[in-house]
Amino acid sequence: SEFETILVKQEGRVGIITLNRPEALNALNVRLGTEVLAAARAFDTDPGIGAIILTGSERAFAAGADIKEMAPRGFADMYVEDFFSGWDELARVRTPLIAAVAGHALGGGCELAMICDLIIAAENARFGQPEIKLGVIPGMGGSQRLTRAIGKAKAMEMVLTGRTMGAEEAERSGLVARVVPAAELMDQALATAEAIASMSKPIAMLAKEAVNIAFETSLAEGVHAERRLNHSCFATEDQKEGMVAFIDKRPPNFSHK
Ligand code: HXC
Repeated sequence: SEFETILVKQEGRVGIITLNRPEALNALNVRLGTEVLAAARAFDTDPGIGAIILTGSERAFAAGADIKEMAPRGFADMYVEDFFSGWDELARVRTPLIAAVAGHALGGGCELAMICDLIIAAENARFGQPEIKLGVIPGMGGSQRLTRAIGKAKAMEMVLTGRTMGAEEAERSGLVARVVPAAELMDQALATAEAIASMSKPIAMLAKEAVNIAFETSLAEGVHAERRLNHSCFATEDQKEGMVAFIDKRPPNFSHK
């Protein structure tokens, strides 16, 4: 494969990207970032793919940005290269993206999981933004997405002290959609991904777009945008198929176009 730091495979209509730097607990170096983005973009534009899973190992989803790579850097090169901004591109992937998280999801690892549309966590998952202990702060959206996900009090505590949160607290706090036994993580993530991928792809993309608008606008503007996206569903073959199938009492056969 063209990739050094990730493994990529397809199961049915689901694309799976596995972070694979076990020697560094999947720390996110520049190469890994480029590879994840390339793989995600390829799946995103593939009509045969309806959902993408991003996962790591049992021990670590990702233990953060690569500290050894960052340590010698200075302000000017970080700024001029706009370091970390490449990850913003992942948030622009329009196919639903599921993070299947086991073990450490720290710093950039937690931020990467939060860039995904939903997180399914193994019981051993641990989330945190420990950057402050290294003399830095989050740089891949953590201070923003964590605050939106779990609220100011807990986000402030985590970002200011670096304390981590286990899977159960993460579910209770609204950071993760579901906690599952570690041995079932991939099966459960795949079942969720397959359920999404069995829907109409354009309609799932519209649904994702609609939910994401909630993070960017006022309620009135968001409801307005949702209505326009809802109306546009009626321009698709899949709306006809979905509704006619219901009336005919049969499962829908979506074209995904
Ligand atoms: C580079 C890392 C790494 C990282 C772990 N490793 N995390 N390398 N960058 N973020 C490496 C270790 O150096 C070690 O390599 C190997 O992975 C195994 O890690 P250990 O520490 O030996 O494992 P363990 O004792 O089980 O501890 C696991 C851990 C710890 C608690 C997750 O590794 C840890 O605290 N890692 C750093 C977590 C962190 O601070 N993340 C935030 C980074 S900053 P060797 O070669 O020694 O075997 C960030 C935001 C950037 O993400 C934005 C701000 C600029």
